Amino acid sequence: MKNKKVIVGVTGGIAAYKVAELVRLLVREGASTKVAMTAHATKFVTPLTFEALSGQRVVSDMWEPETKPMDHITWGQDANLVVIAPATANFLAQMAHGVGSDFLSTLILAATAKILVCPSMNVHMYSNPAVQDNIKILRERGYFVMDACEGELACGTEGAGRLPEPEDILDQSKVLLSEGDLSGMRILVTAGPTMEDIDPVRYITNRSSGKMGYALADAARLRGANVTLISGPTSLRPPRNVRLNRVKTTDEMKQAVFACYQENDVIIKAAAVLDYKPRNKVDHKIKKEEGNQSLDLVRTPDILEELGRAKEDANYLLVGFAAETEDLLSNASQKLARKNLDMIVANDVSRDDAGFETDTNLVRIIYRDGEREDLPLMTKQEVADHLLGRIKRLWEKAS
Ligand code: PMT
Repeated sequence: MKNKKVIVGVTGGIAAYKVAELVRLLVREGASTKVAMTAHATKFVTPLTFEALSGQRVVSDMWEPETKPMDHITWGQDANLVVIAPATANFLAQMAHGVGSDFLSTLILAATAKILVCPSMNVHMYSNPAVQDNIKILRERGYFVMDACEGELACGTEGAGRLPEPEDILDQSKVLLSEGDLSGMRILVTAGPTMEDIDPVRYITNRSSGKMGYALADAARLRGANVTLISGPTSLRPPRNVRLNRVKTTDEMKQAVFACYQENDVIIKAAAVLDYKPRNKVDHKIKKEEGNQSLDLVRTPDILEELGRAKEDANYLLVGFAAETEDLLSNASQKLARKNLDMIVANDVSRDDAGFETDTNLVRIIYRDGEREDLPLMTKQEVADHLLGRIKRLWEKAS
């Protein structure tokens, strides 16, 4: 959210206290965040709280000497997004009926930024037809109104009326701020390691955490793509709004990929797939004996290579990764050719700041025509965004 400007409009509901966390999250994501409050909101949380969290002056009164005469117009026009949280029944009514009675409501009337509305109120208020009609009006006018969540409410009742969690509001803000440039594209991502059992207590696997693949899946769905994520065992929280299929072994991953590969425009194989598995899984714990043991390993299917062969009769872009500790470019180029890929992401996994388990990555991209591009060291989220930009360009060229 770097370089994005967000206004958070706080109105007078008890859930205002949760919005402090939202402001903290927005600031942490790099958004320049300003807060405007209604007079009633200041009864629940002080402007000082938001000022400390956002690092910017909070406006709660249009007539304060520090408020510039045109702030109520310019704030909503300079911003990329205005988030109203919590949005009370009263404020929804003002928005729906064009009432500009204070700084925040006039800001909304003049705003050209996208507007995200997060209602929160008593369950009976929320289900009141007047409130629901106002929500409908706002949606019809292009405002994005989140559904209030179900649960225990501060007023002591249960039901729909809770403010969505700050992380969910943040996520929806990211979706609205994204350009949606992958909208309509269907992307299949594989992530994480595969794992093969030796006996009921032992297994072989590798050091993949899934971070790179999950970052790709998350970035793609934020940009509007329809994402299927096939994941080996990881401890990561899966991205929201993706079709998630968890697998364990290489054969399971192959089966999951081949069950849906034809429904996709792009396939990105970021998973670290085991090349070998034990010939036989022993069904009891192998006992320790005198002398050494050896493990008889057999090859697993190369899923990417099979996708490369199947591509001859289908119409998808195929992107592979190459995890290498030596001869990075020549090994990656050979994999690109052998597996019939459109693009390969060469990953030097011998570095401490790149490859397996790290939060950053350093990759080189090799295209089918031999062209090469080196990306600088970045977070895996940034690498994902850059790769998706290149993939989009390839896709546009091909279609
Ligand atoms: O998960 P992280 O901790 O974030 O780490 C990220 C990563 C290092 C795993 C990732 O960036 C990466 O490099 N993924 C590919 C790892 C790998 O298996 O590379 P490889 O060179 O062995 O395989 C080449 C390609 O063939 C890969 O796209 C792989 O998914 C695919 N493959 C490999 C073997 C096999 N049997 N089937 C396959 O499909």
